[in-house]
Amino acid sequence: MRRVHSLALSLLSAASVFAAPTMAESPGTTAPTEAPAFRELGTSRGVMIGTAIVVEEMTNPTSAALVAREFACITAGNDMKPDALQRVKGKFTFDRADRYVAFAEAHNMKVIGHTLLWHSQAPRWLFEDEHGKPLSREEALKNLRDHIHGVLTHFKGRIHGWDVVNEAIADDPNRFLRDTPALRAIGEDYIVKAFEFAREADPDVELYYNDYNIDADYKRPKAIKLIQQLKDAGVKLDGIGIQGHWMLGHPSAADIDRGLSELATLGYPLMITELDIDPLPRRRGGGADVTAIEREGLDLYKDGFPPEMQQKLGDRYREVFTVMLKYPQITRITFWGFNDGGTWLNDFPVRGRTNHPMPWDRQFKPKPARDAIVDALRTATSAPAATQPAAGTAK
Ligand code: G3I
Repeated sequence: MRRVHSLALSLLSAASVFAAPTMAESPGTTAPTEAPAFRELGTSRGVMIGTAIVVEEMTNPTSAALVAREFACITAGNDMKPDALQRVKGKFTFDRADRYVAFAEAHNMKVIGHTLLWHSQAPRWLFEDEHGKPLSREEALKNLRDHIHGVLTHFKGRIHGWDVVNEAIADDPNRFLRDTPALRAIGEDYIVKAFEFAREADPDVELYYNDYNIDADYKRPKAIKLIQQLKDAGVKLDGIGIQGHWMLGHPSAADIDRGLSELATLGYPLMITELDIDPLPRRRGGGADVTAIEREGLDLYKDGFPPEMQQKLGDRYREVFTVMLKYPQITRITFWGFNDGGTWLNDFPVRGRTNHPMPWDRQFKPKPARDAIVDALRTATSAPAATQPAAGTAK
C-alpha cells in the first residue's frame, strides 16, 4: 500500500533517489518556483511524475531548470517516434533523441520511450509499398523487427520503458482494432509481434501498451480484451498507459474513477502517460454553438486566462489527481507538456488557438493549477490495500 500522508511529508526532507539538482548546479538560471517539486512529492507517494518535452525546452535555460527541478522522468514529445528515428529505411537518426537521454542522465531523471509503433508519425515504407499497397506479412514483420531492434539496441540500458504500441484500439464501435497499415500488412497479431521483438531486443526494459480513452466505457472493454490477448500470447507487459487527455468538464471524476478501478483489477501497473486538461470548448454531440467555435477557431482566452478559469482548471486538476492517487497501481503520471506555450492543444482540435491547459504559463510561471496539484499530492488518500491488489500481482 502507498505510504500514508504524514510519512510522505516527513520523507520530503529526506534525500530522494530522484532528488532534483539544486539551482546552484544550473548556472545562469533562476529558480522558477519555490514550492516543493512535483518529483519529490510524487516520489514520496510512490508515483513518478513526468513530462513530455521538446528539444527547445531543454535548451532554454529557464525551462530546462524547471523540468530538471520538477520532474522525475521525461518523454520525447516527438523525437523518438518512428518517423524521427528511421524516416528513411535502414538509416537511423538518433541525434535529437540522444539529447533527451543526455539531459535526463545529467539531471538524474528517467526516460520514457515514445513510441515504437503508431499509425501516425510513422514512415510509409514500414508497412506499405510505393503505391500505398500493404507489404507482404513477411516483409512488414521484418521492417517492424528491424526498427524495434535498431532502436532498442541503440538505447539499451538508458531508457526506463517504452510505449511499444500506441493507440491501436479503434474508436469505431464496430471495430476492435484501428484500421492501420500495420494491421493490413501483418494482421491482428502485429501487436503481439511488436512486443516479442522488443522483448528479444532488450530483456530488461519495461514495455507498455499506451492508448487514449481506455478509461472510458466505450473503449475499456476493447482494451481489456487486448491486454488479455497479450497475456494469452505470453507477452510480459510491464504497464498499461492511459493517456489522460481530459477536458475541464469531461469525463466526470466518477467516470474516470470507474475506468481506473476496472483497469486496476487487471493486475498490471497503470500509468497516466499524457495528462492535460483542455479548458477550451470541443464539439460534443454536434452542438451548433460549439461547432461554430471550433470551425472559426475562436480563441476564448486569447488575451489571457481569467482568474475564475485559473480556479476552475486548478479545481479540475485537484479532482483528477485525487482520483488517480487513490490507486496504488498508478506508478507514473506524465503530463503531455508542462507549459501553455508548448502544449499540442494550441493546435488541436483547431490550429493556432491560445490554449491554457498546463500547470505553468507561457512565461514558465506556475499557475494556480500547480498549487492545486501540489495540494492533492500532499493530501489525497490512497484506497485501502484490501480493495486494491498490489500492482503487477496478477501477471
Ligand atoms: O516538424 C514539422 C515542422 O518541420 C513543420 O514546419 C511544422 C508545420 O506545422 O510541423 C512540424 O511537425 C509537427 C510535429 O508535431 C512536430 O512539431 C506536426 O505538424 C504536428 O502534427 C506534430 O504534432 C504532434 C502530434 O503528436 C502528432 O500527432 C504533437 O507535437 C505531439 O505532442 C502529439 O503527441 C501525441 C502523442 O504522440 C500520442 N497521443 C496523442 C498526443 C497528442 O496528439
